[in-house]
Amino acid sequence: MRISEHIRAIQPPPITEVKSWIAGRSFPAEKPLIDLCQAIPNYPPPRELIEHLKVQLDDEQTFKYSPDEGLPEVRQMVCDWYQRRYKASPTAGQTCLTIGASQAFWLAMSCICQPGDEVIVQLPAYFDHPMGLQALGIKPVFAPFCPDQAGLPNTETIASLITPKTRAILLVTPSNPTGAVIPSAQIEELFLLAQNNDIALVLDETYNAFIDTPAHSLFSRPDWPQNFIHIASFGKTFALTGLRCGALIGSEELVNQTLKIQDSMVVCQPRPSQIALAYSCQHLDDWVANNTQMMKQRHDLFRSSFEAADTQFHLVASGSFFAWIKHPWPKLTGRQAALRLAEDANLICLPGEVFGPGLDYYLRLAFGNIADAQIDDAVDRFHSATE
Ligand SMILES: Cc1ncc(COP(=O)(O)O)c(C=O)c1O
Repeated sequence: MRISEHIRAIQPPPITEVKSWIAGRSFPAEKPLIDLCQAIPNYPPPRELIEHLKVQLDDEQTFKYSPDEGLPEVRQMVCDWYQRRYKASPTAGQTCLTIGASQAFWLAMSCICQPGDEVIVQLPAYFDHPMGLQALGIKPVFAPFCPDQAGLPNTETIASLITPKTRAILLVTPSNPTGAVIPSAQIEELFLLAQNNDIALVLDETYNAFIDTPAHSLFSRPDWPQNFIHIASFGKTFALTGLRCGALIGSEELVNQTLKIQDSMVVCQPRPSQIALAYSCQHLDDWVANNTQMMKQRHDLFRSSFEAADTQFHLVASGSFFAWIKHPWPKLTGRQAALRLAEDANLICLPGEVFGPGLDYYLRLAFGNIADAQIDDAVDRFHSATE
């Protein structure tokens, strides 16, 4: 059997690769492994949610399919959550529950693009996005990373990349991997750019619960559904990454068309995930707000500790959850630098090049994964790292 060359050409999943570097190794108590690799909140969901799920497991309905787009009452609860967070809300008909933000992304791209089309992707890019686009035969057109803008996109540069084949501008805010948050006014500007070119502005807002600045106001525009697609990951918001809770939000027409793909791909988000999502949307606002503050403090702690340590690594950008740093070893690629840190410092992080071409001198640190008490130790490992 032949595996498609097209799929072979795609980079392997980076987290799997980095974790393979430490497979089978054990770490001494005085220098334990520090895992800054995968972005997973370092805390579990609240006990009350776990207890609620346990009760629901006694109900036979829990084990059945739901409608493809999700249970109507759950979608409505998600919309109510948006109303509280964004001060404006999509409707249940504009909302499709998905297997994480990952599947929402696939639905969006396969619904608005055909093979050969182009999607503008800001560098550094969340690695699964170019991987998914390539698998779908869609060409990612990269907007260059501007270190002096700390990871923010440049609207004029993006405008200059639009061609007749462009179908979408794809942005992640807050950014994975830089943590940069695109200001509301720029999001509005990018929306108008998309509108004027009759293409989509696709925002992956997976980390939107980890910032306490006001959310963008696109949902308040009556015309948002024509040119805006929102991708959500409740896995990060409610610490449910393993339950794969996400959503695609767009026009009713988009949602209706995506159901053809949803039905043939997964049928629906699993009901236990929908039950957890419904409970979380209804009861966990305060729990989320506390975690937002906690992550914000962790970011402050990380920044001050990193800057005070005066390491040879340069902090280029950071935000809630992530730091994007430049390594000091000109002869090493990001992959080699990350491997060196895994071997010598017992610390794993992601090499810059997995976030797009030309980024070999960078590393991504997901400090959202570790407790505050581990931050100084993590920073110290960079301080003592040598080529
Ligand atoms: C920007 C971004 N989008 C999507 C995802 C995937 O989210 P989910 O687990 O909800 O599929 C991640 C996970 O790390 C991410 O960082």
